[in-house]
Amino acid sequence: MTLLDEIRQLREELSKIKAENAEELEKLRIKYLSKKGAVSDMFNRFRSVPADMKRQVGPAINELKSFATDQINSIREAIANKTDDDLDIDLTRTASPLPLGTRHPLSLVRNEIVEIFSRLGFTIAEGPEIEDDWHVFSSLNFADDHPARDMQDTFFIARNPDVLLRTHTSSVQSRVMEHTQPPIRIICPGRVYRNEAISARAHCFFHQIEALYVDKDVTFADLRQALHYFAQEMFGQNTKIRLRPSYFPFTEPSAEMDISCNICGGKGCSFCKGTGWVEILGCGMVDPNVLDACGIDSKIYSGYALGMGVERITNLKYRVKDLRMFSENDTRFLDEFKSAH
Ligand code: DAH
Repeated sequence: MTLLDEIRQLREELSKIKAENAEELEKLRIKYLSKKGAVSDMFNRFRSVPADMKRQVGPAINELKSFATDQINSIREAIANKTDDDLDIDLTRTASPLPLGTRHPLSLVRNEIVEIFSRLGFTIAEGPEIEDDWHVFSSLNFADDHPARDMQDTFFIARNPDVLLRTHTSSVQSRVMEHTQPPIRIICPGRVYRNEAISARAHCFFHQIEALYVDKDVTFADLRQALHYFAQEMFGQNTKIRLRPSYFPFTEPSAEMDISCNICGGKGCSFCKGTGWVEILGCGMVDPNVLDACGIDSKIYSGYALGMGVERITNLKYRVKDLRMFSENDTRFLDEFKSAH
């Protein structure tokens, strides 16, 4: 085989080369175009070509070299383009946002209530959900046979001594008073439990917020002022409040607070059953028996307390019709509160 035949054969071979990636391409480049490669070898052998053949062989080798170079370059380009195609991404597109979670509506409302009271100098206090009889009932002036103990259907974990799930956050009052002397100004958010059949309007667990203020010369007027401030901050400056006499074992006198219905503005609608008012919390002056039971001298100190249900306030603010929505973890429901943060 003459050198010209070999050149032709090598050209043929070069016309068929393929590479999938840069690594394979580099191997081809070394094989054909490096100093020890097949094309360079032709140049070495050109020296021993007889003089009469040189005119023919010379241009053929040059052409072979540029053909080899072109082949390698076009494969390199193809690989570069191919990478973009394969990734199939639009680099100009904005990155897709990570789906963010939302705060639970009950947390939103609890935080708002706590924040309003913190502006009045109240600080958060917490207590256990698993409680004893003393902190939930006895220290709060519930007599042993007091009907209120039945009113609040209690979940008992054990009897004698009683271990139970707290039925209200008022238990945190007595826990704090036991080990703190006045002035006391606390706000106690937490979960409470009652043995109720689950429906749209009742659940076996829900959330309350308790507030307690004990100091010298605390009066009912102070309570009324704090309630008025809270109602206006929570439901708007036009909100009116009304206090109705009521009864709780741990407060004397006791009251229930209504606010002017924030749906009809007090005119009367189906939500407020035509009365123009909706009840939102219980309150009163701390019964001296409670102060004394918790080691605070009722001859020196007085105080007020109030307690409200977070679900109730949330319903008023966001019109959630079915209580069960709060604990179903349906993200479509939770997503509705995205903008409320
Ligand atoms: N503990 C009461 C309840 O469960 C709410 C309450 C009423 C708390 C009057 C208070 C209060 O602190 O003064 O329903």
